[in-house]
Amino acid sequence: MTHMADVASIFGLHGKVALVTGAATGIGREIARLFHDAGATVIGADLNEAALASLSEERPGVHLVAFDQSDPASIAALFEQVDAIGPIDVLVNCAAIYPFRKFEEVDTALLDKMLAINLRGPFQCIQHAVRRMKVDGRGGSIVNISSVNSMRACIYDNVHYGVGKAGVNNLTLSIALEYGEHNIRVNSVLPGGVATDHAAAEADGYPLRGPFTQPGRIPLGGTSCEPCDIARACLFLASDASRYVTGQLLAVDGGFLVS
Ligand SMILES: NC(=O)c1ccc[n+]([C@@H]2O[C@H](COP(=O)([O-])OP(=O)(O)OC[C@H]3O[C@@H](n4cnc5c(N)ncnc54)[C@H](O)[C@@H]3O)[C@@H](O)[C@H]2O)c1
Repeated sequence: MTHMADVASIFGLHGKVALVTGAATGIGREIARLFHDAGATVIGADLNEAALASLSEERPGVHLVAFDQSDPASIAALFEQVDAIGPIDVLVNCAAIYPFRKFEEVDTALLDKMLAINLRGPFQCIQHAVRRMKVDGRGGSIVNISSVNSMRACIYDNVHYGVGKAGVNNLTLSIALEYGEHNIRVNSVLPGGVATDHAAAEADGYPLRGPFTQPGRIPLGGTSCEPCDIARACLFLASDASRYVTGQLLAVDGGFLVS
């Protein structure tokens, strides 16, 4: 028979140090809150210092670090600050941008910026994390926030975003393969629609169209879930409950990808 204490130790994060990027707002903020409530020592990192500051008012004890995921030196400095708090057990790569633009109007500056933040940044965060997690065979769990856009064309005017997130999926599979021997697990969560302030605001004047917006398309109904739905999937993947799970792309999309 399973006792409550066992459930808490299996699904909880007591004693673990978890770094969550993009923790100032939206999904990342909810992940940081839930991980803190699950017992982790949480480091929330983000570019938006003002929004990040209010996270520690909600969850005193959460460590805050301002950083720019497009800047390799800033990422290195972030991990030095994490080291001062404790050896990292969990990394959630959530920080990203998703400006809409017509494919033919995506210029080099926008493409470079998006790929620097959404792909190169997570790549380099994982490099820093695995160097630490493999020491003494400690291992760890890495969760990359991807998107259903990575798997198939979902919405117009978002090609540059989809290719970056497709790269994140490949990163997940490749690092899962190469670092399993170090007991480092790597998985992706692929949100469909999530009701965040950013998602509500971000269409840059472009009408939302594509398979994702077709009425009745999502088997579980509605058009979006809540940030907590993504955070709960991340908690499963970060915790020992998923200790034999790696290299998975877990869609939290109401079934959109099978429709
Ligand atoms: N909301 C959705 O419908 C949805 C759907 C699929 C995937 N996603 C993914 O979920 C994640 C969170 O999305 P969200 O809707 O919560 O957006 P959000 O804008 O609320 O959160 C993203 C966070 O990343 C931070 N950030 C941006 N650029 C940064 C940089 N250079 N350095 C450090 N931090 C930076 C932002 O300040 C912000 O706090 C993203 O990876 C996004 O691609 C969201």
